[in-house]
Amino acid sequence: MDTRIDRQPEVPPSSSVRQALEEVRLRCVACQALYPVLEPGRPARYRCECGEVLDVEIPLRLPGAPSGRGHGGTSHQTQDEAAAWRQLFEQRARLLPGTPAAPVAQRSGVWRYRELILPLPDEAVVSRAEGNTTLYAVGSDQQQETQASPGLRRIGDYAGLAQLYLKHEGENPTGSFKDRGMVVGVTMARLMGARAVACASTGNTSASLASYAALAGLEALVFLPAGQVAGGKLSQTLAYGARMVQINGDFDAAMRLVEQVCDELGIYLLNSLNPFRVEGQKAIAFELLQQLAWQAPDWLVLPAGNLGNTSALGKAFRQARALGLIERLPRLAAIQAAGANPFYLSYREGFARRHTVQAQTVASAIKIGNPVSYARARLVIEECGGLVEEVSDPEILEAKAVIDRAGIGCEPASAATLAGLRKLVRAGIIKPNERVVAILTGNLLKDHQTGIPRAETVTIDPDLASVRRTLDALGSLTSPSPGRDASASTGAL
Ligand code: F0G
Repeated sequence: MDTRIDRQPEVPPSSSVRQALEEVRLRCVACQALYPVLEPGRPARYRCECGEVLDVEIPLRLPGAPSGRGHGGTSHQTQDEAAAWRQLFEQRARLLPGTPAAPVAQRSGVWRYRELILPLPDEAVVSRAEGNTTLYAVGSDQQQETQASPGLRRIGDYAGLAQLYLKHEGENPTGSFKDRGMVVGVTMARLMGARAVACASTGNTSASLASYAALAGLEALVFLPAGQVAGGKLSQTLAYGARMVQINGDFDAAMRLVEQVCDELGIYLLNSLNPFRVEGQKAIAFELLQQLAWQAPDWLVLPAGNLGNTSALGKAFRQARALGLIERLPRLAAIQAAGANPFYLSYREGFARRHTVQAQTVASAIKIGNPVSYARARLVIEECGGLVEEVSDPEILEAKAVIDRAGIGCEPASAATLAGLRKLVRAGIIKPNERVVAILTGNLLKDHQTGIPRAETVTIDPDLASVRRTLDALGSLTSPSPGRDASASTGAL
């Protein structure tokens, strides 16, 4: 395939796009060096000269506001401006997400917040109306919100929390939160003149990349750790038409490889090392704050692997506070699987040094031993008074069963949030009456094997007597005790 995009194009598509991109800066998270995003004649830049990752800075300006404000949203805005921002997002959110006639800014739960992400005109952006995911109220004190869904309250009880919301990012177009960052990354790939995009992945990034690349007419190449990716994610990646290369090695090896491949072949890299991916993922925070009427929760809990999402949410909350959209920062709790816990190990030592591990966990999505966004995520945890926790595989699977049985469901990595929450509440670190939002990062269908109770599946002959016998053995639909009177079982039917 002809993949080369060795050099950025001399002239991006339209003058309004060029104007928007000319205001974008990339800042090193370590040495603070600044780079323009448009460097004609030079390959795309993902790292600083010093080797660290980069952060996107844009002037945060209301549409129609005069240019000239400083980068990064550090200046405190007036209350009037905060009200104008809220009004802008409320107006856009009022239109139904699926309405085909609505402009992208209204349909997409990412581009709705474009002035805080990448302020591009409609015609420049790719979109599948991503985002717009449900915020489920599941706390034991949220009866009003859960009246018709009492099953949900079991999740709040399990966590030990009166006010708990689950933001289900598994409801995105390809079934994971990755779509939020990918839509911005693929949009940038097009604007930079790329013909091919690539990533290393534990499965969700590759599925998302494959979908959005197909949408944008780009070729896609993905590197996966052989035998370590859940079936649903493999199927998606192939079905959307990506070229898939499985490597003899883990995710961390695939990550090292894809960076070399992209540099060598001039393919546009779309792991969260790409700072525009992180920008898109900030929309999770903006959307949940809007759903909570801009009242920040006390805690935000999420699973942590490569640490792109931890970085993104931390940055979004910081910007929301700088704009006066919220009054205080939520504290972030990043949850790792105990067998894939390098960030936890560093946190426990006050971030004295950066750890790496040989990762091992049933939660294959977060089986990562050397997270790329370590530096970004460390700053986030320190700034918000956050913490990092670890949970065992049995704890993850138990929590997953609780989420699944409530009727929502999620993939194993997502359940690390609930497992971590339960642990933190039991340890007295999160108080039972604090207001908490937990992110469910991926859909149940992503991994149709791990933690699914197969033992309860039976095959019988198609007659009533067999049904009676079976229900009797399993326990009836109204009483869980096995060996009950068969007539009572049929009564329940
Ligand atoms: N949850 C799910 C379902 C994921 O797929 C991932 C990461 C995470 C949590 C962790 O997020 O990396 O931003 O800290 N999946 C990547 C992938 C690595 O390739 O799909 P993170």
